[in-house]
Amino acid sequence: MILVTGGAGFIGGNFILDWLAGCNEPVIDLDALTYAGNLETLADIADDPRHVLVQGDVCDRDLIAGLLEKYRPRAIVHFAAESHVDRSIHGPGEFIRTNIEGTFVMLEAARAYWNALGGVEKAAFRFHHISTDEVYGSLTADEAPFTEENPHRPNSPYAASKAASDHLARAWFHTYELPVVVTNCSNNYGPYQFPEKLIPLTIVNALAGQPLPVYGDGKNVRDWLYVGDHCRAIRAVLEGGRPGEIYNVGGHCEKTNVDIVRTVCALLDDMWPSEGGSYARLISFVTDRPGHDRRYAIDASKIERELGWKPEETFETGIRKTVQWYLAHPKWVANVQSGAYREWIDRQYGGAETAQ
Ligand code: NAD
Ligand code: TYD
Repeated sequence: MILVTGGAGFIGGNFILDWLAGCNEPVIDLDALTYAGNLETLADIADDPRHVLVQGDVCDRDLIAGLLEKYRPRAIVHFAAESHVDRSIHGPGEFIRTNIEGTFVMLEAARAYWNALGGVEKAAFRFHHISTDEVYGSLTADEAPFTEENPHRPNSPYAASKAASDHLARAWFHTYELPVVVTNCSNNYGPYQFPEKLIPLTIVNALAGQPLPVYGDGKNVRDWLYVGDHCRAIRAVLEGGRPGEIYNVGGHCEKTNVDIVRTVCALLDDMWPSEGGSYARLISFVTDRPGHDRRYAIDASKIERELGWKPEETFETGIRKTVQWYLAHPKWVANVQSGAYREWIDRQYGGAETAQ
């Protein structure tokens, strides 16, 4: 079996659902169920004996040692993190704790467990650390996309905490020979993403007739990847990735934020027309995020060359599926918009809108 951390979140949840749809290898899912963890994402496998959910913290050393001893996984896929840049600006402390200390605790527990394994099991074991392209910093319009050789130049507290965790993962391989692989992925989108991130926030706000906040001039560029393609990349790396290596994962899909928001509006106009006219009327340029990185772009040629992975979805197919999924799951959306969600939206956007 494998141990996944953060499996009730957006990418971890998609990963587990895809994993169990494709094979019978059980998954132990360690998740603290923070505001971002959602058991409804895993509702279809709630009674599936191949999925064992453990509510707990990645900083809990004894819990993790006990889980490794009890379940004896062949691999750990470490997703659990605080993941939202804007929240890291308001309150970086939890990012330092979960993303840095949590990764340290996971690596140490994995090292003790792995050291005690014998021959074949020891050689086959993998610690897969899930990271982000944001560790590489920001690109200008004409710079080449990030390769695995780019230095880390994190600009937000979130990116800095992820960069620190990547450095720990690297050091645990070089010093202790723990078989660690790291993937640095670009912005994901798809089903089950919490509506604090740009794409689901746009869909949810548009359907509610609320403003669609675009930071600054809306020209910041992200490289978008459909979450199912990310999950396939992780499976490919688990299977064939070389210990000690980094693999960048991206969709060859650079878009400005305002283009993303306009595309979502156009799809909604087609699939769920509003009586008030195009949803684009709700676009509202708001005060920029402090330290907002201008452009991210990933060169994914290493994973394509070495492991034969490439994205299957184009942005057009992926975004259509995503909008369709949110339209078909109003209950999931309503249930994540709890009191805590409203508090965040008021704190982040309350009164921040400016005229276009
Ligand atoms: P998410 O915020 O949707 O989910 C995070 C999950 O981790 C939640 O289920 C939460 O309950 C859990 N968690 C948080 N703190 C925990 C703790 N202390 N102990 C145990 N569990 C805890 O995040 P996501 O978007 O699914 O991202 C998953 C991973 O992928 C993160 O490591 C993130 O840095 C990375 N990543 C995300 C993106 C993206 O676009 N979302 C892109 C590249 C990399
Ligand atoms: P986000 O989904 O928060 O991901 P990240 O910051 O990790 O890239 O944001 C994606 C882009 O969208 C980023 O450039 C910030 C921008 N953005 C907005 O313009 N408005 C919003 O309300 C949000 C949440 C993000």
